[in-house]
Amino acid sequence: MAQVLEARIGDDPDRLTAALEDGALILLRDTPFPLQPDEMSLIDPAIFSGESKNVSYDPATGRLNGVGLEGEALDRCRAMVARYADFARTLLQQVAPGYLRTAEQKRASFRPGEVSVRALSPRKDDRLLHVDAFPANPNQGRRILRVFTNVNPEGRARHWRLGEQDFEAFARDFLPRLKPGPAPLAAAAMQALKITKGRRTPYDAAMLQLHDLGKLDAGFQSTTPQSEVFLPAGASWIVYTDSVLHAAMAGQHAFEQTFLLPPSGMAAPDKAPIRILERLLDRPLG
Ligand code: SIN
Ligand code: FE
Repeated sequence: MAQVLEARIGDDPDRLTAALEDGALILLRDTPFPLQPDEMSLIDPAIFSGESKNVSYDPATGRLNGVGLEGEALDRCRAMVARYADFARTLLQQVAPGYLRTAEQKRASFRPGEVSVRALSPRKDDRLLHVDAFPANPNQGRRILRVFTNVNPEGRARHWRLGEQDFEAFARDFLPRLKPGPAPLAAAAMQALKITKGRRTPYDAAMLQLHDLGKLDAGFQSTTPQSEVFLPAGASWIVYTDSVLHAAMAGQHAFEQTFLLPPSGMAAPDKAPIRILERLLDRPLG
């Protein structure tokens, strides 16, 4: 069952790690990401280029995407999101230090847009309950662990919903509608055509379908038990978004950092969605 666990830096990491793996959102109330005075002008959706939903920074290349800034302002924005990447890594080190042995730090993002007013197709609408799955970036069984921080300057909370079903119950309900996943040739073609970065495995295909089936099922959206969660300004939170049903309903100005973690890096690898789906489907998904 999804739950919010209020924690503090210094709490027992083994307990927090186990809670994350059991589907808890770990909420750290007083962990603000300190912004510098010359960064305040960047806390504004006007920095977006075109239709971007967020600004993303890739620590592997040092590239910042999604902004329409140039010159010194671009450098300042990149430095801000890069600093957030370090901040999020330090938080993860404090909450679940064992994960840093195997976790790969992927993109960090800044999200200055107001969540509640976005007009998006249902598939892209994160106001609908979902588990995360990346169409272009197959993770091949690795977990998606995310750190968020609300930096809203007016002190507004970020409003989420959490589904109460655990991943296994959610997956079980949609299992009859899951189609097997891409034929090896189709997966190779998607990779060759650069539709995906890396090979889309049967696991990735199953997760993408669960993401879409859940969002597109109006009955599921309206009847599945869910709770409202208000994530305060100045707070950070950590959650496995590939297994915890979540929806972002309202709020503006948050940072996010994604880590990918192999199941072998978990305290309880059997709780990874890939292991749960393999048990339910009785076939390997690698
Ligand atoms: C999401 O992962 O669904 C969006 C989370 C957010 O931006 O608050
Ligand atoms: Fe999500």
